[in-house]
Amino acid sequence: MQRLAVLTSGGDAPGMNAAIRAVVRVAIERGVEVLGVRRGYVGLIQGDVTALDSNAVGGIIEEGGTILHTARCPAFKTDAGQVEAVAALARLGVDGLVVIGGNGSQAGALMLHRRGARTVGVASTIDNDFAAFDITIGADTALNTIVAAIDRIRDTASAHERTFIVETMGRGCGWLALHAALATGADIVLVPEVPWTVARVVTRIEARQRAQKAHTIVVIAEGAGSGTALAQQLSELTGADIRATVLGHVVRGGAPTAFDRILASRSAAAATQALLDGRSGVVAGLQGGRVTLLGTEEALAGTRTLDASLYELEGTFGV
Ligand code: ADP
Ligand code: F6P
Repeated sequence: MQRLAVLTSGGDAPGMNAAIRAVVRVAIERGVEVLGVRRGYVGLIQGDVTALDSNAVGGIIEEGGTILHTARCPAFKTDAGQVEAVAALARLGVDGLVVIGGNGSQAGALMLHRRGARTVGVASTIDNDFAAFDITIGADTALNTIVAAIDRIRDTASAHERTFIVETMGRGCGWLALHAALATGADIVLVPEVPWTVARVVTRIEARQRAQKAHTIVVIAEGAGSGTALAQQLSELTGADIRATVLGHVVRGGAPTAFDRILASRSAAAATQALLDGRSGVVAGLQGGRVTLLGTEEALAGTRTLDASLYELEGTFGV
C-alpha cells in the first residue's frame, strides 16, 4: 500500500482530530502517504483532498471539531454516488480509506467495501449508540459538557426554587441523558427508549413539591421530545414558572477529554494498522475494555439498548 485516505463524516465528535492524527502518524511510520478528504463523502465524490504530513496533524490532539470538516451526503446513499466515490479513490491512487464517524458513516464505509474499495472504520459519535462498543469517541467529552451545564443550571434552579427541563443531544439513544442525569443527581430523566407521559412528569414534580424539594431538574434526550414544548406544557398544567434549556450543539463541541483523546488515538491506530495489513470491512472500537476490530456488519447490528438497571437506579435517586 502506498497511499491511504482518511475522512470524518456525519456528526462531528470531540476526539476526531486525535483520530486523524493517529491515522497519519501510523501510516507515515509505515512509509505510506495520507490524503485527507474534506467534508466526508461529499469531498470524496468531488475528489476534494489535501495531503497530510506529520506537521499537518501537529497540535490538533486537543482540538474539538475536525480539521477535515464533515458533512452529511445524501448523494452517497445512491448507487451513482457510491460508484463515483470508488472511481474517485482510484483516480486519486488511494489504496485504502479510513472512515471516522458514527453508524451512518460506517454504513457508508460498508457500501464502499462491498464495491471493492478497501475500507476500515473508527467508531466515533457522541450519541454512543453502537450496541457493539462499550463507548465511542466523543461520548465521554459530550457527557462531561452536559454535566458541567446541568451543575450550573442547578445553581440557578435552586436559587429560584424552579423546575428546569434540560434537553440534551441524543438522536434515538438515551445514553447521554441517562448518564448525565446519574452524574448530576437530576430528578427525572426522559429517554427515547422508555415511553413517558406529561401527566406522569406532573405527578412526579408535584410529589417533589409536597416533599418540600425546592427545585427539580428534568433531563430529556432530544429523541424523547422537545424540552421547550415540555416546559410550556408543564407550566400550563402546574401553574409554575418552568424553564427549559436546550443544550443543542454546545454538547458536540469543546476539547476532548483525556479519555477521548486516548480512545481516539488507540482506535484509529488499530484501524490504520489493520488497513495497512490488508484488512477491509472492519471497524475499531472499545469492546470489553479492549480496542477491538469488528466486522462492519456486526458493528452495525442493532442500536444500543438502554441499561435498565441504571435507569432504575436513577429513578431510585430521583425520589
Ligand atoms: P453518523 O455517521 O454520525 O451516524 P449520519 O447518519 O448522518 O451520521 O451519516 C453520515 C453520512 O453517511 C450520510 O450523510 C451518508 O452520506 C452516509 N450514510 C449514512 N447511511 C448510509 C447508508 N445506509 N448507505 C450509504 N451511506 C450512508
Ligand atoms: O449524531 C450526533 C448528533 O449529535 C445527534 O445527537 C443529533 O441529533 C444530530 O447529531 C444533530 O446533527 P446536525 O444538527 O448536525 O444535523
